[in-house]
Amino acid sequence: MKPINVGLLGLGTVGGGTLTVLRRNQVEITRRAGREIRVTMAAVRDIEKAKKYAGDGFKITTNPFDVVDNPDIDIVVELIGGIEPAKDMVMMAIENGKHVVTANKALIAKHGNEIFAAAQAKGVMVSFEAAVAGGIPIIKALREGLTANRIEWIAGIINGTSNFILSEMREKGSSFEEVLKEAQRLGYAEADPTFDIEGIDAAHKLTIMSAIGFGVPMQFDKAYTEGISKLTREDIQYAEELGYRIKLLGITRWTPEGIELRVHPTLIPAKRLIANVEGVMNAILVKGDAVGATMYYGAGAGAEPTASSVVADLVDVTRMHTADPGNRVPHLAFQPDALSDDPI
Ligand code: NDP
Ligand code: HSE
Repeated sequence: MKPINVGLLGLGTVGGGTLTVLRRNQVEITRRAGREIRVTMAAVRDIEKAKKYAGDGFKITTNPFDVVDNPDIDIVVELIGGIEPAKDMVMMAIENGKHVVTANKALIAKHGNEIFAAAQAKGVMVSFEAAVAGGIPIIKALREGLTANRIEWIAGIINGTSNFILSEMREKGSSFEEVLKEAQRLGYAEADPTFDIEGIDAAHKLTIMSAIGFGVPMQFDKAYTEGISKLTREDIQYAEELGYRIKLLGITRWTPEGIELRVHPTLIPAKRLIANVEGVMNAILVKGDAVGATMYYGAGAGAEPTASSVVADLVDVTRMHTADPGNRVPHLAFQPDALSDDPI
């Protein structure tokens, strides 16, 4: 079978990691996808920075339209970040009949409803596993593994940069500013790190999990959002002396009055499992009526952990694309279910 052609928008931390994983595990990935997944083109802003990929067998352009308008590309992977031009490129790719894989939580949380409607109308898939909790397959867990359940609540540490800052401040007494710089150097932080330290990135991810878990549209504007920027070393030390750890948690809960969505620093007894999640690691607890409480743990940011989720989506989309269209179950597209009329 001929390869499926992929166009990358962005070759930064996650784009670079995606190329590395696709190349290193090519044999296994091809077997699992049923055909070769081949990157044929990538768009960047600065061609000089991308020169290290010259000779990798794909074209590099500074014009993202070269990717989304290219009739030979089957899947567009959006790894630019932010709203524009990412949104325009994703909408145009859908309009051109291409499937989309994205790690862009800001885009999905704020414009997912419109994007999914467009994808559904065109019969293409939009996958976003990497948008929440880096390498943890939490979207698949919520949508597939826990599909028999009524989800009662979801709570977790879903911003690696904030957790890294809190851990380093507690364990090493480092200053907020120096740890944030280190998180940026390691590629964990958002292009605008305010999103990490003010809880906005966590609210994006919480919005997405809430929509999937409760079957409601994305409701980012309804989330209460407070970050870690006002916390001091003294706050962290006092909490420690009292037997607690401070963690930035995202919490969403179904209630008869509507769905609660909140992100804020939380005191957690130090003996709890989630209080001991350190560094860039994320952990998410999900309570379902049948399964009870479950927990998912892993690297929440970074090149290869995030690429692990991007490539998993590429394999899924390739399988679905290759299946007889009449038999496709659109499980990768998000569809609000009957609960969607509930007030939030
Ligand atoms: P980077 O800043 O490292 O990379 C962004 C890439 O996009 C760069 O190659 C940049 O090119 C390119 N780019 C930016 N604007 C344009 C444009 N207008 N046209 C073409 N190319 C453009 O970001 P990350 O890889 O860290 O993040 C990408 C996405 O993944 C974001 O949505 C982020 O939130 C998400 N994500 C990131 C994680 C992480 O650990 N870093 C984890 C999970 C999700 P150039 O370098 O030439 O400017
Ligand atoms: N900036 C994000 C974080 C990247 O630190 O969690 C992963 O989504």
